[in-house]
Amino acid sequence: MSLDKAKVQELIQEFTVSQKDLEQTAVNFQKDIEVGLVDISKSTMRLLKSYVGLPTGEEKGDFLALDFGGTNVRALRIRLLGAGKFEVLSKVAKPLYVPGQYDFIGPDAAATDLFDFIAGIIDEALAGDHTTPYKLGHTFSFPSSQTNLNNARLIIWTKEFATKGVEGEVVNDLLLEALQRRGVGNVEPVAVINDTVAVLLAAAYKQPDTYVGSIYATGHNTCYLEPHVAGEDKPMILNMECGGFSRLQTNRLDDLLDKDSEKPGEQRLEKMVSGRYMGVLFGMALGEAFGDKTGYGFTSIDMSNIVLDQSVDKSQVCAIVKAKAGQDIDVEEAEYVQKLVAAIIRRSAELVTSTYVGIVRHLAENGKIKKQHVAVDGSVYEKMPLVQDEMKKTLKALLPDDYEKVDTMLENGGSGLGAAIAAAMAE
Ligand code: BGC
Repeated sequence: MSLDKAKVQELIQEFTVSQKDLEQTAVNFQKDIEVGLVDISKSTMRLLKSYVGLPTGEEKGDFLALDFGGTNVRALRIRLLGAGKFEVLSKVAKPLYVPGQYDFIGPDAAATDLFDFIAGIIDEALAGDHTTPYKLGHTFSFPSSQTNLNNARLIIWTKEFATKGVEGEVVNDLLLEALQRRGVGNVEPVAVINDTVAVLLAAAYKQPDTYVGSIYATGHNTCYLEPHVAGEDKPMILNMECGGFSRLQTNRLDDLLDKDSEKPGEQRLEKMVSGRYMGVLFGMALGEAFGDKTGYGFTSIDMSNIVLDQSVDKSQVCAIVKAKAGQDIDVEEAEYVQKLVAAIIRRSAELVTSTYVGIVRHLAENGKIKKQHVAVDGSVYEKMPLVQDEMKKTLKALLPDDYEKVDTMLENGGSGLGAAIAAAMAE
């Protein structure tokens, strides 16, 4: 089979978003926030209350942090030193899924097995210390509804997680029961936050002028400090769950991917932009270009490696396509493949940035955009080629008069630090 180059051009067109459509996305996003603040049923996002505002930077003490939100779970002991400083005292990380060995996130896994495994990771981070009392902050990166800082109830799994018996439950109850089963009585879970909230807390602990926190990784989501939350007398961070934003122009492949996913109709923005799905979109597109409708198992890491191949013979691109699609391609075809990958990455970065613009405009006072940083964590933002450049270009295009006031800033590993800060703020 050879690559149909005209088809690749068509696919690139399908993944190209005009500046007008990007502007419309920013406008729709801002509107979705503003109608949602009045009546959440009118928004395609959730705008979930976090019951926490920004830290002062002076929070201090030793805390346990649990970071549960992707295929790796981490437990950390963190010492907050104040003045925006901290130390990681210990850290244990383990995957929840090892092919051929165990799987705590698939549809055959049960809540007790999952939380017993997590309690074991926490126990390891404690190195057998079952006496020193610890407050635990839990970064739980799935849509959860709360009525206080600690009682997050999972609304729905995302990112293709499917463990039974967790949806609808209060996750820290499941965690506490597992800790008790394991004999870890000295750990008290006191706070649950979304990973976006963790990023914002971690960034704001160190850096003023930060009101927006975002994850751009396996999944995608953003939170921000809302000055006026109904029923609250102080500003509060809202977890937007904007991976579910859907006032967007999807293409044919987006719709096909959605239909075949664990949760059709949900997380439409996330399925267009995040690392979990970009490789799938690329595999589907390449399948069409080879006239083979099966799609292939590419990952976002493959996409990065394809873009990074600057060699004359495009050996890396050819090898990846051979390994994943079983097809031999020549140099010219490899260049087409690179352009297709670039179009999918570019669209992702443009869409994510247009949502940031929607938030920044919403936060403007009397139409004046504040000088600020948007804190972002995640492998796509940090490591994927093209992403940060495209984000800068999009900020400039959508905020021609204000782009110098707004920048995106990497908040690396904020999930652990943010959880510790949240535990400190719960005191
Ligand atoms: C979840 C969010 C999370 C994001 C990034 C999404 O799938 O719904 O809660 O913040 O992934 O981890």
